[in-house]
Amino acid sequence: MKTITTIKEIRAALNQEKKSGKRIGFVPTMGYFHEGHLSLMHKAKEDCDVVVTSIFVNPTQFGPSEDFEAYPRDLKNDSKMAEEAGVDYLFLPSVEEMYPGERLTYVNVEKITKVLCGAKRPGHFQGVATVVSKLFNIIKPDFAYFGEKDYQQLVVLKKMVKGLNFDVQIVGVPTVRDKDGLAMSSRNKYLGPKEREAALILNKSLILAQEMVKNGERSSAKIKKSMTKLFEKEPLVNLEYLSICDIISLQEISGIKGKVLIALAARVRKARLIDNIVVEGN
Ligand code: PAJ
Repeated sequence: MKTITTIKEIRAALNQEKKSGKRIGFVPTMGYFHEGHLSLMHKAKEDCDVVVTSIFVNPTQFGPSEDFEAYPRDLKNDSKMAEEAGVDYLFLPSVEEMYPGERLTYVNVEKITKVLCGAKRPGHFQGVATVVSKLFNIIKPDFAYFGEKDYQQLVVLKKMVKGLNFDVQIVGVPTVRDKDGLAMSSRNKYLGPKEREAALILNKSLILAQEMVKNGERSSAKIKKSMTKLFEKEPLVNLEYLSICDIISLQEISGIKGKVLIALAARVRKARLIDNIVVEGN
């Protein structure tokens, strides 16, 4: 695995690979790897000849009171894990390398960035769309891999690729969970043992919703009410939002028909966690 920190060098290396007809798979990340990140790398390895992973804790997607500084970092371990996953190029640009000078250029996806996490984190998806556009222009991948755990991010980036005619195919990869159901996240590091236990309520509430749909419930309001009740039993967890919405427009829907996204965010002390599930009603 080659580790590269400059745009000039990664462009030169990948231009060479492209010239010899190699298919480039790209996995953008902010590091502090877990099995979720690795599953994206494995999928890229399956589909492509050359796998590029980037680690860049992107300042423009964090709000002023968010955890940019505290975001967990462990480059040494990440490097080892990426190498073991078969990554060919690890791209580690500095903030100065990615954003030199005054920042005046941004990429905006409208409407679908204003709901769910976008409503609670103004500017977040602008930061994500901007950095991913920049990375796409640097890496020029054929395929790029994103986790369904960040479902809204996946939908936003698919829309961006279409809207700006990026020549890349976005691939969604299912959420990887710990054995007890907690969706893996770099931010789980913020959880103490009691908080981690309490955080299981996120997944439990989604399973409850799934069961209700299986048993014929089609009313979003009723499903939300049961989920909210469950959260009320867990004082360590504060539900931030709960949405039952269309899987593409992300707009709220009142009844379960066809495939529907159930997405939520909750705070467990200083950790903000998200999870989701796609259910299907007939
Ligand atoms: P990060 O949180 O590091 O996640 C990198 C990728 O891993 C994202 O596509 C995310 O959806 C995926 N991922 C995280 N946890 C996962 C899990 N449990 N199962 C499956 N996939 C999972 O998301 C970002 O970084 C940034 O916003 C980024 C896209 C890199 C732009 O800065």
